[in-house]
Amino acid sequence: MESLAIGLLGLGTVGSGVARILHDSSERITRRSGRHITLKTALVRDAEKDRGDFVHSSKIVTDPSLVLNDPSIRVVLEVMGGLEPARTYVLEALARGKDVVTANKALLAEHGPEIVAQARKYGRCVAFEASVGGGIPIVHALAVSLAANQVLSIAAILNGTCNFILTAMTRDGLSYETALAKAQELGYAEADPTLDVDGTDTAHKLAILAQLAFDASVTTRQIPRVGIDQLQSADLRYADELGYGVKLLALAKYAPSGLELRVAPTLVKLGTPLAEVRGPYNAVRVVGDAVGDTLFYGRGAGSMPTASAVVGDLIDVVVGRSKLTFDALNLWPEGSPAPKLASSDGVRSRYYLRFSIADKPGVLGSIADRLGNAGISIASVIQHDPGEDDAKDSSVPLVVMTHIAVESKLHSALAEIDRLSGVKTPSVCLGVEE
Ligand code: NAP
Ligand code: HSE
Repeated sequence: MESLAIGLLGLGTVGSGVARILHDSSERITRRSGRHITLKTALVRDAEKDRGDFVHSSKIVTDPSLVLNDPSIRVVLEVMGGLEPARTYVLEALARGKDVVTANKALLAEHGPEIVAQARKYGRCVAFEASVGGGIPIVHALAVSLAANQVLSIAAILNGTCNFILTAMTRDGLSYETALAKAQELGYAEADPTLDVDGTDTAHKLAILAQLAFDASVTTRQIPRVGIDQLQSADLRYADELGYGVKLLALAKYAPSGLELRVAPTLVKLGTPLAEVRGPYNAVRVVGDAVGDTLFYGRGAGSMPTASAVVGDLIDVVVGRSKLTFDALNLWPEGSPAPKLASSDGVRSRYYLRFSIADKPGVLGSIADRLGNAGISIASVIQHDPGEDDAKDSSVPLVVMTHIAVESKLHSALAEIDRLSGVKTPSVCLGVEE
């Protein structure tokens, strides 16, 4: 059987998982790819670090040209992360006739058009299953299996770190800081975890899904996003009291008038599938016009689940399936029109609102008036006695659940409410996904 050499750019959490699968499952991979795949070279920053038993130290290099300029290396797996030098290395690998597998969603979300144009120019392909949802085959599902559908909506938990933190805070009573440190220790977080907790990583993934599901070339900056770093633990508790969990959701809703995209901590009804997704697991609910409701679930982060997707892509590249799909998809086509995005006048949802108000008569009434004037109907209200969460200025929390409301009207009403003298701090507003 013919051999095929590959090179790894990066041998960290994901790269070491890839090396492990290639080592432990080489017989199966050979059988399924029809080639004997050999890991020839792995690029790292620090050649002195202990890399375990799966890659011989003679294969570990710090000079990128030993991967990029080696004509025997046919496929490059980019699992180093970040924008530069990953972008330069990927462009270089493609120009030198190598196919590329990448787990790097930031790179695709920011430089997708340039990278796919380079692949097309040199007749190569780029495979990126691991870039969204870790081990969940959602890229293949949207690109191939659901290709007959107009996707109508996507509601997804796409960041394992954030879901791990939210689960650890609500189920295990950990503080935000301890939970984040644990997620980093377990290899779920990005090198810069701000990207996880501020919603940027989820927005990167949503930009990729938008390309696959809606042919929409959106930039990360076009996706409104709020992270879990803005969340307060009081809101997790009140949501629970109301029968909801809080998840960092990526939402996409298709309408002929415009595509609605957002990333935000969102209330989801306890007992529904998305609310039950715990720890580093991800889930993607896709509704298509033909297929109806579908749900994809699995580990969204971590060494082996992500490596499973990378090696699956590698096999696809080697047997030639990836190139067929890549060519047929025509991702980020040159000159594609700017996507038609929904304005906040077109966005409708139920909302969870929390106000910190002075404990005196009339304040609740004036808030209800402002909401009523904006056409926002209240579904339920809870008001607690002053408690430990409340400021030392005798304010009390007031939690309101609305019926379906128009986002732009709600925001105008909240701006007015926040100016009322009885309202002590800026209001909290979270969407509710039914
Ligand atoms: P990581 O643990 O930080 O590993 C990065 C690897 O790349 C390390 O081996 C590092 O070398 C090497 N590297 C980084 N910059 C380099 C440079 N300039 N030159 C040479 N080598 C360099 O990262 P990771 O968690 O494996 O993530 C890798 C990629 O996969 C990222 O794009 C990430 O977003 C994506 N991803 C990660 C997960 C996950 O669960 N971790 C899941 C899905 C996708 P040293 O070891 O010498 O520092
Ligand atoms: N940091 C990412 C996450 C890795 O936590 O989901 C998987 O893309």
